[in-house]
Amino acid sequence: MDKFLIQGGQKLEGEVRISGAKNAALPLLAATILADSPIRISNMPNLRDVNTLVKLIAGLGVAIEYASDTVTADTSTLNNQFAPYDLVKTMRASILVLGPLVARYGEAKVSLPGGCAIGSRPVDQHLKALEALGAHIEVENGYVHAKVDGRLKGGEVIFDVVTVGGTENILMAAALADGVTTIRNAAREPEITDLANMLIKMGAKIEGLDTDTLVVTGVESLHGCDYAVVADRIETGSYLAAAAITGGRVRTTHTDPALLECVLDKFEEMGAEVTRGDDWIELDMQGKRPKAVSFRTLPHPDFPTDMQAQIMAVNAIGRGFATISETIFENRFMHVPELSRMGANIQVEGNDAVVTGVEKLSAAPVMATDLRASFSLVLAALAAEGETLIDRIYHIDRGYEHIEAKLQGIGAKIKRVSG
Ligand code: EPZ
Repeated sequence: MDKFLIQGGQKLEGEVRISGAKNAALPLLAATILADSPIRISNMPNLRDVNTLVKLIAGLGVAIEYASDTVTADTSTLNNQFAPYDLVKTMRASILVLGPLVARYGEAKVSLPGGCAIGSRPVDQHLKALEALGAHIEVENGYVHAKVDGRLKGGEVIFDVVTVGGTENILMAAALADGVTTIRNAAREPEITDLANMLIKMGAKIEGLDTDTLVVTGVESLHGCDYAVVADRIETGSYLAAAAITGGRVRTTHTDPALLECVLDKFEEMGAEVTRGDDWIELDMQGKRPKAVSFRTLPHPDFPTDMQAQIMAVNAIGRGFATISETIFENRFMHVPELSRMGANIQVEGNDAVVTGVEKLSAAPVMATDLRASFSLVLAALAAEGETLIDRIYHIDRGYEHIEAKLQGIGAKIKRVSG
């Protein structure tokens, strides 16, 4: 099992090229199932999760190629609508093929994704929304079996909780439904807007982008197109956090400040100097120790839960203390005991954590538990004195493309060791 060996204590300086967003790439790949002619998606990040979903879509009989940063897919040879447990269990977002398969082929059998380290991750809202459009859903033996005679029918969908995946699933299904669908209490993450923009390029009729109410006028068919994945706002924030925690200066390129304004505001509250360009962001910590900042994770455009672990790591060496409330997932503090092993002072009460900054963290052997927690341990190791060994870093390969090269490019002493 691979590990990272990190020698901490360097100010990180330099430029990081941001990749396409994992959380946009996955729904965009699922949406290829809707196209009745070849479709091409570029700026596709080479991540484990992306490769898993490409494999699953190939298993449907789709001719799908992934070369350099571009995926091309041709659904004319699709010959089954079955997404097996052995693939879905390794990548929960596989549930996103459910909506497209039912909408285009009238039937789908998709394994329930099950939970993961950060929470139970139910999909009840996905199923309720599809039923609202006329799908007949049965759940048995760990599989969702969805069917509809003829086409789905446009209707009213009201989500009980704001769900990114639920919004994406029903948006894709509604695009081919007969009639108008209104989706209320929709998630507003930029990755949903990216999916909507590609669907519109494929011929879909969608209004209300970036709002919590999407109105979709279904069409008979959707054609292929050329599309590029939006920049990864969480990867962007993660590398800017590397500058904040080491007192350095990092410029992230091929990104967009508008995707993560809430996070940039927090960096400025820490005392960092943040400069924004059209497609770049620079954070200069000017050698200072950041001020610890409080926040609550909430749906977009508020503070993203996917940045919670990273900013907690910065707070761990911050000046003063801060309170972090995790309102999205029920178990997303698994990085706390690992950060504490490195000397962090963090008190957890339910979904609230109080972080009291310490001058210095100390290197220690630690273990990654989930994707974003892994990056928070990398950040802590970059700031800590001495050499830190991080185990189970297969988690981090799910969502950070070329992470060692990108960190070495800004002066980090990091290497991957196996065994
Ligand atoms: C997406 O997960 C992201 N993953 C997550 O990123 C992200 O943390 C999350 O949205 C929230 O922003 C992808 O886009 C692939 P949700 P998703 O449905 O869609 C509850 C990362 O690190 N819920 O918005 O699964 C759920 O339990 C990953 O890149 C229901 O109760 O998240 C959670 O508490 C982690 N019923 C809340 O809603 C449902 O049917 C938000 O979940 C669906 C969700």
